Amino acid sequence: MAPEARELARAAEVLRAGGLVAFPTETVYGLGADATDDRAVAAIYAAKGRPSFNPLIVHVLDAAAAAEYVTITPLARSLMGRFWPGPLSIVLPRTADCALSLLVSAGLPTAAVRAPAHPLARDLLAACGRPVAAPSANRSGAVSPTTAAHVAGSLPGPDAGGPRVILDGGPCRMGLESTVVDATGDVPVILRPGGVTAEEIEAVVGSVREVTAAATGDEGLASPGMLARHYAPGKRVRLNAQRAEGGEALLAFGPGAPADALNLSPSGDLTEAAANLFAMLHALDAGLAPAIAVMPVPERGLGRAINDRLRRAAQPEDAP
Ligand code: TXA
Ligand code: MG
Repeated sequence: MAPEARELARAAEVLRAGGLVAFPTETVYGLGADATDDRAVAAIYAAKGRPSFNPLIVHVLDAAAAAEYVTITPLARSLMGRFWPGPLSIVLPRTADCALSLLVSAGLPTAAVRAPAHPLARDLLAACGRPVAAPSANRSGAVSPTTAAHVAGSLPGPDAGGPRVILDGGPCRMGLESTVVDATGDVPVILRPGGVTAEEIEAVVGSVREVTAAATGDEGLASPGMLARHYAPGKRVRLNAQRAEGGEALLAFGPGAPADALNLSPSGDLTEAAANLFAMLHALDAGLAPAIAVMPVPERGLGRAINDRLRRAAQPEDAP
């Protein structure tokens, strides 16, 4: 067996045995566990230090696999047809005899399902034959990982509750988490902006609603994961900066930025900026400057999701 195939087989075996595996998706790396195994799912929360009220996305191969656990509404059917496999997580009612751990829903009557597009993620799902619960593979509140090295740097090792295997698929293509959309009703409600834009969803189903206000972390939120401070580096982050000031490192966007700054996209391309966002935040976090200044990013298309993450990163540390 080729080394990659052996590693994949081992990862699938670890999942089936209730262990944790980190794996690449087209958005960010996920920290996966068998979504039907309560103890395995609990181990995810523990490894991430994640607040227990924050539900997890369940990864499946396709709509047929999702239908084993959630009720597919007509709206969800349309969205899956257009965006799966891909960066869209769809919140749907759990079926009456749903085999998913209640922990993945964190007390809600719904579960979020997503079919990832990354070939390694799909091979892993096929090899283990289970739905895989996977949040981003970082400590809760930290910047999401877009490389295997980010994962290893953020989570505890295998003997301290971290993943037994980290599958390395190189840098993530999108670099930004999936869009989370509630499709329980007739109109899709975007709970978290992400890789699929509101415009793209509207083009398919005719209408869309957005829950944009950064939620405060109270229980009972539509998407409890929308903690105000999230995706955060360990340093002060200042938004809408035109230049770096005393001690700051600049995260630039677009042409005309200082040539020595890290630039999300020198040409002003939002897709490129999304792919670079977390890797550059990681790099600035690891750098010498004690603070980060970020140039404005246009509030359209993927820029909405990028700005959402930047606003969260800029919340003061004592925010909820
Ligand atoms: O791109 C992604 O979505 C990555 C990769 C690994 O797939 N995963 C990810 O998961 O970002 P996580 O756990 O970091 O974010 C999941 C988001 C949270 O905001 C959570 O509150 C929301 O999805 N969510 C999950 N289940 C939900 C549910 N039943 N109802 C409402 N929101 C839900
Ligand atoms: Mg996350």
